[in-house]
Amino acid sequence: MTSLEYHHHFPLKSLNTFGIGAFAEQLAIVRSVEALHSVLLDNTLPISILGGGSNVLLTQDVPGLVLKNEITGIETVLENEHDVLVKVGGGVVWHELVLWAVGHGFGGIENLSLIPGTVGAAPIQNIGAYGVEWKDVFHSLDAIDLQTGRPLHFKLDECEFGYRDSIFKREWKGRAFIAEVYLKLHKKPVLNTSYGDIQRTLEEMGIERPSIKDVSEAVIRIRKSKLPDPVEIGNAGSFFKNPELEAADFQRFINKFQNAPNYPQPDGRVKVPAGWLIEQAGWKGQRFGDAGCHAKQALVLVNYGAAKGAEILDLARRIQDSVLEKFGIAIVPEVNVW
Ligand code: FAD
Ligand code: EPU
Repeated sequence: MTSLEYHHHFPLKSLNTFGIGAFAEQLAIVRSVEALHSVLLDNTLPISILGGGSNVLLTQDVPGLVLKNEITGIETVLENEHDVLVKVGGGVVWHELVLWAVGHGFGGIENLSLIPGTVGAAPIQNIGAYGVEWKDVFHSLDAIDLQTGRPLHFKLDECEFGYRDSIFKREWKGRAFIAEVYLKLHKKPVLNTSYGDIQRTLEEMGIERPSIKDVSEAVIRIRKSKLPDPVEIGNAGSFFKNPELEAADFQRFINKFQNAPNYPQPDGRVKVPAGWLIEQAGWKGQRFGDAGCHAKQALVLVNYGAAKGAEILDLARRIQDSVLEKFGIAIVPEVNVW
């Protein structure tokens, strides 16, 4: 495989999990940092970065140059009695890294099994699921500044990771191309099975003393039962973030909606599941043409086949308005709208 592939007017339908039929004016698939530098040398077009396309909504053809990250490689670079430091190419498929770690008995990312997308996109929104976040195993990353072509290095405390947030969604948005990451995994991991669904699923599987592999398999089972598979129905996972209310706002809300599920956070705020708000506002299972709100998980907007990105976005806006009107709560997209 060559380290660089260049295409004009390239169809993106199979490169985004919503399955939206848009085109990239230019597409460069880069498989090494050197290939990236050679693209940047001649380029004058605006650049968008694409990984696995599992957290983007394409509302139009993408002007300029789309850089698709396919830099691969998984390598142990340091090791002691307790931990391993692993260097991973940003274009590696996230779940393949999870399977590699599980296969080697390295703990830390088993709760993040089956999240679609690439390793290089994981820091962008600090991916999270079942009680674990990306930041919990993150060591550092190497990126390229697309404006200057210079190498960048970010350590944990420089990434400003938060719930579905990082510096790469703000100051460095679209500018830092994440090429390689370093993760710290554990040889003697303490498993995190505190998330209710995991414990219950392990019991159903008849497992009392779970291994890393058991936890990974339990998470895979839960996810398959709840979330639509993009191969069957186009989607990008949760469309919105769960809102985190300040204590006083939460009190006002819960006085009025006493049966609302809620999760107090360490900082005093309280997370309210957006899926519940959307379901209560009457959207769950609704379909408008090929755009819809999933019947099993209201937080997931779906494309049943030929929906345009603009139709999904329009549905998202109507959901936002109705949740604001009914509950006085603003929900914001998790998905990146292009
Ligand atoms: P893309 O969608 O290609 O890109 C996402 C954003 O990151 C874009 O803004 C893009 O420009 C930028 N980007 C991508 N690669 C790079 C790079 N190398 N350098 C700089 N910027 C880059 N997310 C969770 O957190 N938890 C979940 O449990 C979860 N479940 C999901 C379930 C389903 C069924 C689906 C479809 C999605 C789910 N997601 C979840 C969302 C998604 O999987 C993650 O956000 C994932 O990290 C996106 O990776 P990607 O490679 O597909 O990124
Ligand atoms: N709920 C409803 N109706 C629904 C869906 C959810 O009432 O249709 C309520 C239920 O009370 C349920 C609660 O919401 O107990 C939480 O639902 P769920 O466990 O499915 O999790 P979520 O909050 O909807 C979040 C993440 C997921 C992640 C799971 C598991 C966000 C925005 N989403 O979903 O991440 O996989 O928890 O940890 O934080 C993603 O980011 O794309 C994603 C899928």
